[in-house]
Amino acid sequence: MELIITKNSQEMARKATRIIANLVKNKPKAVLGLATGRTMIPVYKELVKIARKEKIDFSKITTFNVDDYLGLSAKNPASHAYYMNKHFFSKANINKKNTHLPDKNIKSYGKLIKKAGGIDLQLLGIGRNGHIGYNEPGQGSTLNSKDRKIKLTENTRKANSGAFPSLSKVPKYAVTLGISTILKAREILLLANGKHKADAIAKAVKGKISSKNPASFLRKHKNCLFIVDREAGGKL
Ligand code: GLP
Repeated sequence: MELIITKNSQEMARKATRIIANLVKNKPKAVLGLATGRTMIPVYKELVKIARKEKIDFSKITTFNVDDYLGLSAKNPASHAYYMNKHFFSKANINKKNTHLPDKNIKSYGKLIKKAGGIDLQLLGIGRNGHIGYNEPGQGSTLNSKDRKIKLTENTRKANSGAFPSLSKVPKYAVTLGISTILKAREILLLANGKHKADAIAKAVKGKISSKNPASFLRKHKNCLFIVDREAGGKL
């Protein structure tokens, strides 16, 4: 695992964007594993900007999102599907047919990824509790965990409640790629910014490798890069 600490979140986003843009330039049919959350908003914004400026063609990429809430329609502004459309798919020249979000058919999601040739680069955020995708601590989030339905912790529901009218409207369940699928990506890029992520980053980088600390499993991957800003790296 490698680590880059940037001076702020803009620089974190710029560095991440450069890596994604270069991949698509070199491999126009790249398969990208995508993530949502506040951390990724500047990344997609910058990616759309660079794509226009450098005339990068996104029309042949295939995408698979790492997670989504269970039971929210893509029309619901709080769904990950809606987020992806708003921040990325509708703004870059992306073929919507080649984009995928997990849903109740999560058990067959892995087959689609395999058929597409596997994920070249998996982009990840991190939860305050160390979750990656929605692999919540405990909850079967072992090294061998499969793509599955998962019960969200109350902490995660609270952390994500800003996108909903009230906490009670935050779904109780989500679907996520399992740790074993995430680790199959050829390259992994985890991003974090802000003080509220400092504990999670410190535990991911130097804590015990355990299902109680799902992001720690990324240390088992051969080609994994963490890009975090100074605040998120504040406890390293
Ligand atoms: C969310 C998502 C993750 C995301 C993480 C960080 O709950 N399930 O995929 O990476 O938590 O979100 P944020 O960037 O808003 O802090």
